[in-house]
Amino acid sequence: MPKIVKYGIIGAGAISQRRHIPEIHANEQSVVAAVVDPVKDRAHSVAECYGAQAFTSHKKMLEQADLDAVVVAGPNALHAPQSIDAFKAGLHVLVEKPMATTKQEAKAMIAASKKAKKYLMIGMNQRLMPPHVKAREVLDQGKLGKILAFETNFKHSGADHWSVDGAASWFFKKNLAVLGVNGDLGIHKADLMRFLLGEEFTHVGGFIATLDKKYPNGKLIAVDDNAYLTLKTDAGTIGSIHISWTNYAGIEDNGTVLHCTNGVMRIGMDPEYGVMVDYADGSKDRYAVGEVATNDKQVSSGVSDAFTECIINRRKPAIDGDEGYRALQVILTAVEAAKEGATKKIRY
Ligand SMILES: NC(=O)c1ccc[n+]([C@@H]2O[C@H](COP(=O)([O-])OP(=O)(O)OC[C@H]3O[C@@H](n4cnc5c(N)ncnc54)[C@H](O)[C@@H]3O)[C@@H](O)[C@H]2O)c1
Repeated sequence: MPKIVKYGIIGAGAISQRRHIPEIHANEQSVVAAVVDPVKDRAHSVAECYGAQAFTSHKKMLEQADLDAVVVAGPNALHAPQSIDAFKAGLHVLVEKPMATTKQEAKAMIAASKKAKKYLMIGMNQRLMPPHVKAREVLDQGKLGKILAFETNFKHSGADHWSVDGAASWFFKKNLAVLGVNGDLGIHKADLMRFLLGEEFTHVGGFIATLDKKYPNGKLIAVDDNAYLTLKTDAGTIGSIHISWTNYAGIEDNGTVLHCTNGVMRIGMDPEYGVMVDYADGSKDRYAVGEVATNDKQVSSGVSDAFTECIINRRKPAIDGDEGYRALQVILTAVEAAKEGATKKIRY
């Protein structure tokens, strides 16, 4: 096993520039060895900052660079084929969410990881954020009793305000994104709620719409920009996920409320107290664990650090292909349910 993990970055866009690359560079046990982006100037300018090799094709990078692992962080539709190519080249794969755009692709990625005997981790970083880690710890203590119901939100002004290519981004192109706000924000919340509840979703329904987000020519985008999903778990917990790219006031909402038999937990809703618990007997617990990260307030995600640690210590990632697959199935089933106007059973 390597003492220093050499990473190739596939896709030098916003998530790579703001999180993966600086975080890999800052970790003494990892290095950015190569960067790929079809936009040649972008690949070169990003690579130069870190003394890495630049490529415009991931296949060339896989042939020519000396690597241990890749970060797959380009458009959603490329995640599966690029990850599978990397496994075939004998590398570990950290792939951004959603891990794939179909159930079959996700399964093929898991199979390729097993065949290559290389790790697969999905960049579903919500569950690594300190307020969510603390929330899970408090829930495990049991004082709040059983979780009965939940609401969770993820709403910001849109991927056009985040992507390096703005409104011209792949995020708004159906063939590359496949899923709109559901693939961008819904998948995060499906994963987070599985993590916090410790339960599996069994049913999902909801409304999914393209309400307002437009291309520069004024036409509505071809993917969804808003969704209200309702869900039920195997333990009977019910709840909702609201995700939006049209929260234009600039107040990002990434909060979660858990209604439990002995009180209520609010997460990511207060700048000082990341977790606030109010018990039925009037007592309160407040945990100053920081805020949930937002697009404007980037904090270390911990994703590449966790993956590097797994590779060096030969430990399977906690956020593995199966976790990515289950979150993806929730979202893919939600899309089918909304189209059919019915609540659907989720088949894993
Ligand atoms: N975990 C998170 O919190 C989080 C946040 C934002 C984005 N993401 C995910 O990260 C991925 C990338 O999103 P982003 O925000 O960086 O988008 P972005 O639009 O800012 O950047 C995407 C980059 O990919 C490049 N690209 C296009 N085709 C490519 C190819 N064939 N090979 C390599 N690169 C290619 C583009 O030129 C661009 O530089 C997406 O899957 C997205 O869902 C995750």
